[in-house]
Amino acid sequence: MTDPHGLVDKVVAELPGWLPAQRWFGGKDRPVTSVRPLRTTVLRGGEPLLVHLVVEVEQPGRSEPYQLLITEQVENYDATLDHELTGVLLDLIAENREVDGLRFAHEPGVELQTGLRGRPITSEQSNTSLVFGSQYILKLFRKLTVGENPDLVLQRALHEVGCEHIARPLGSITGELDGRPTTVGMLQQFLPDAVDGWAMATTSVRDLMTERDLHANEVGGDFAGEARRLGQAVATVHADLERALGTQHADGDDIERSVRAMVTRLDEVVSRVPELEPFVPALREAFEQARDTTPGAIAIQHIHGDLHLGQVLRTVHGWLLIDFEGEPGAPIAERTALRSPLRDVAGMLRSFDYAAHQLLVGRPEDHQLAVRALEWARRNRAAFTQGYAEAVSSSVGDPRGRGYLLRAFELDKAVYEVAYEHANRPEWLTVPLSSIARITGEGAAQS
Ligand SMILES: Nc1ncnc2c1ncn2[C@@H]1O[C@H](COP(=O)(O)OP(=O)(O)O)[C@@H](O)[C@H]1O
Ligand SMILES: [Mg+2]
Repeated sequence: MTDPHGLVDKVVAELPGWLPAQRWFGGKDRPVTSVRPLRTTVLRGGEPLLVHLVVEVEQPGRSEPYQLLITEQVENYDATLDHELTGVLLDLIAENREVDGLRFAHEPGVELQTGLRGRPITSEQSNTSLVFGSQYILKLFRKLTVGENPDLVLQRALHEVGCEHIARPLGSITGELDGRPTTVGMLQQFLPDAVDGWAMATTSVRDLMTERDLHANEVGGDFAGEARRLGQAVATVHADLERALGTQHADGDDIERSVRAMVTRLDEVVSRVPELEPFVPALREAFEQARDTTPGAIAIQHIHGDLHLGQVLRTVHGWLLIDFEGEPGAPIAERTALRSPLRDVAGMLRSFDYAAHQLLVGRPEDHQLAVRALEWARRNRAAFTQGYAEAVSSSVGDPRGRGYLLRAFELDKAVYEVAYEHANRPEWLTVPLSSIARITGEGAAQS
């Protein structure tokens, strides 16, 4: 078949059944009521066809655009699985081509190798990334948001100020949505030897758990040196973002508003998750304390927005931050808003807690393991914060001097995790709940 319209009709008819089974589909909580094509672009005619398709996915109370690449030969018409065919995308970027309003472009001064095959990466992700040779990685954003994607905007800005802790942006694909140029793809330098932070951290935890008689600083897989370097990298990226895009000041009203947002979220989550109930007074107090102890204004700027150990890569040259899109589920206005860099610090601190405690899920009675997990988390959280503090004189400075605010951000994140685990992995609920119990039981200066 070489008729693109016939192909699109067939695919669109099957999408309501197929979409909910995709890892990257963001609407698994509700049925798909209909799918309608918004824009069809034939990237390669003849045999085999390669068609770029944007569809509007309708669900009860929600309607969102998604990006697809389709062809006829492969399973479910999903062209991202066809290594030969996806090579077309890289070639179009290398040649700065425009096809029916879809603009493929390399970054200024970048020369790309063409003729490479593109294979999808296998890790869990909310988008779809294709790796070309051992040089390039192309992220195709699945759920589209109108406008330039913050992932591209922030990494471009960071590259322009010479940031050393990102993978170099190499190109982009831009379509049109609601009459506005919209980023649908981003090409970056691929680091073939990179290991992600989550894999490294959890390996270190496992090493500690198997050496029952040793402490975190005595076993081979101690992570504290890495955690400290990671803290330095995050602080440097914050300073670079500030240098590239500036900083502003949030005044007392702004702080009041964000504290109210935390309390509202808490009320909303506790109405669904009764296990959170006993912690409500302490949580409210922690949020209010953050407001009362925060001086007149705090610095806000562009931040990563969804920072955790799965969003950092260790290469031979050091730590890199990836995926500056913000929380995938949050509205775009929130994702692009200026916020305190302490939010990213809090995100990483939560991630250390998760890495330490994930082996305990389903073994609540193993007291000794729980002690080790806590020891690992304390050691690495402290090392991370220490690294952050010693790296730069950014507007944040030492997060330990901002104990109450940092603690509130961390608790706010943990409340979000309670809602998430309750909905998705009820057996993990103990991880954020025990953190909330611990953090509210301790003083603010602890990390
Ligand atoms: N530049 C890169 N080099 C090597 N691996 C990468 C690179 N960028 C991303 N990855 C891998 O791809 C995964 C998904 O990338 P990410 O940008 O986080 O996508 P998503 O938006 O879908 O979460 C990462 O967890 C990492 O394993
Ligand atoms: Mg990611």
